[in-house]
Amino acid sequence: MTAPFLLAEKLERRVGDTQILDRIDLAVQKGEVVGLIGPSGSGKSSLLRCIAGLDPITGGRVLVEGRTPTPGDGTIGMVFQQFNLWPHLTAQENVTLALRLVRKQSRSEAAERARTMLDRVDLLKFADRRPAQLSGGQQQRVAIARTLAMEPRLVLFDEPTASLDPELTTEVLDVIRGLADTGMTMLVVSHEMGFVASVATRAVFLDHGRILVDGPTKQVFRDAQEPRLRRFLATYLQRVAWAPEPEPATDNPALLEIIENPPGEGMPLTSTKPGA
Ligand SMILES: Nc1ncnc2c1ncn2[C@@H]1O[C@H](COP(=O)(O)OP(=O)(O)O)[C@@H](O)[C@H]1O
Ligand SMILES: [Mg+2]
Repeated sequence: MTAPFLLAEKLERRVGDTQILDRIDLAVQKGEVVGLIGPSGSGKSSLLRCIAGLDPITGGRVLVEGRTPTPGDGTIGMVFQQFNLWPHLTAQENVTLALRLVRKQSRSEAAERARTMLDRVDLLKFADRRPAQLSGGQQQRVAIARTLAMEPRLVLFDEPTASLDPELTTEVLDVIRGLADTGMTMLVVSHEMGFVASVATRAVFLDHGRILVDGPTKQVFRDAQEPRLRRFLATYLQRVAWAPEPEPATDNPALLEIIENPPGEGMPLTSTKPGA
């Protein structure tokens, strides 16, 4: 077996008396798309932030291609729930400024690359708009273009559609799906179980800062034996309009339907609102 692309070993994060992440072991191969699921407060964001070096770890280690990544070294790109665009800059300038600051590219070089990246997320026509003149879905696509412009080796998505109206999530999920198809290694935190089922090859369930389940996505959803995972999936289904009663995940035809027939590109996913 080749050395994993991403390795988190006995990763711990503690703040005061709070154990936020508890001995996380996670190995991800190049090209894998891992869906991170779990209740609000289970440590999903913290795990991504620790992997990206944005939150300090208090134990263990993180290696990407054998090296400890540092913020700004370009190894890892992260896309947040809040798009974090500069409000006074146009879409193109948002991408360009990042390239000029981080990659030290010339003005013309950065502008050309920014336009290529905006084209990739199908937003070249809005290159001159400021964030306030774009929908939430379009703003998130600009943020994704800005992240991809840095040519990261690994991309982390932290609930990229959680602050979007349901009708705007599809365009963002399609961009992420397209990125997965290119072989990009990604960790995706999402409450869109249909999306996780369709794009992630592997699902990891976090609870109270620990990984309780880690396996092939369909297996994790279909054969969920772990009681907390079953409860989590049942609660998820309860929020979906067409599931009146919470039922054990494995007995629930609605969830099986999502897993067996995940929504395809451009198709509506679910109408759930995220819990956090
Ligand atoms: N800087 C911090 N100081 C203290 N507690 C924190 C800090 N950051 C996160 N937490 C706590 O750690 C837990 C995990 O948070 P988070 O990673 O945001 O979970 P999730 O993304 O799964 O909702 C929560 O209980 C949260 O309140
Ligand atoms: Mg979070």
